[in-house]
Amino acid sequence: MPSPCDTLPIVETIGVTRIFGTDGTVTALDDVSISVYPGEFVAIQGPSGCGKSTLLHLLGGLDTPTAGTIRFAGVDLATLTDNERTRLRLRSIGIVLPIVELVPTLTIWENVAISLLLDGRAMADGRARATELLDSVKLSHRTHTVASRLSTGEAQRVAVARALYNDPKCVLADEPTSFLDSVRSDEIVDLLRTLASDGHTIVMATHDARAAAFADRSIRLLDGRVVELHAVRDG
Ligand SMILES: Nc1ncnc2c1ncn2[C@@H]1O[C@H](COP(=O)(O)OP(=O)(O)OP(=O)(O)O)[C@@H](O)[C@H]1O
Ligand SMILES: [Mg+2]
Repeated sequence: MPSPCDTLPIVETIGVTRIFGTDGTVTALDDVSISVYPGEFVAIQGPSGCGKSTLLHLLGGLDTPTAGTIRFAGVDLATLTDNERTRLRLRSIGIVLPIVELVPTLTIWENVAISLLLDGRAMADGRARATELLDSVKLSHRTHTVASRLSTGEAQRVAVARALYNDPKCVLADEPTSFLDSVRSDEIVDLLRTLASDGHTIVMATHDARAAAFADRSIRLLDGRVVELHAVRDG
């Protein structure tokens, strides 16, 4: 992993605040400044409602802050048009959402390939890449299983495979281990750990201290503010 001292952040927030509601009733994030460096695996921790998902949505360009700056690979997201932000997300960011939304009647192979086709790739290209991705999440033996027959852990692995279809620089995973027992949870987080070792940057929101222990570093939020930054592993 590159040292944070000798490289620029892949994503950073500078004084980011997100207030919901026209009357400003909910301050989901309050003056949050964080930096995540290429190849790092960072856990965002904190109790329910502390702003973890809001932060991930902002990092992924799915939402815009009320105040402050978000940079992805040095580019201020506020300077991009909606189309440019969408393109950045499609090309450079993989998002794993907490509730896996697979198309239940399609096979897992089709669920992954569909992302590639939606991105304008040719069918032959999509087929090869989907197979490769399912292999990387150890599901190549189940490619023809329909999604409705998968266990929750398997569905989470398909969601990770799908998020990787464009070989994103950065993967944002929101509670990827929710609903999983500790063995399945460890498998998912270990997979994210492997991706980080392969050079992807991982930002994972989690309640789960066990999952966070796989990360290089942890950022703890409370009531929308960063209360603690600490190394979990030696790197
Ligand atoms: N679209 C929205 N409109 C209004 N309030 C919102 C919206 N999204 C989030 N909030 C509020 O912002 C705060 C932070 O929510 P967020 O979903 O980021 O928390 P979280 O840390 O991800 O929680 P959890 O661990 O339960 O997923 C909460 O008070 C939530 O109710
Ligand atoms: Mg959340």
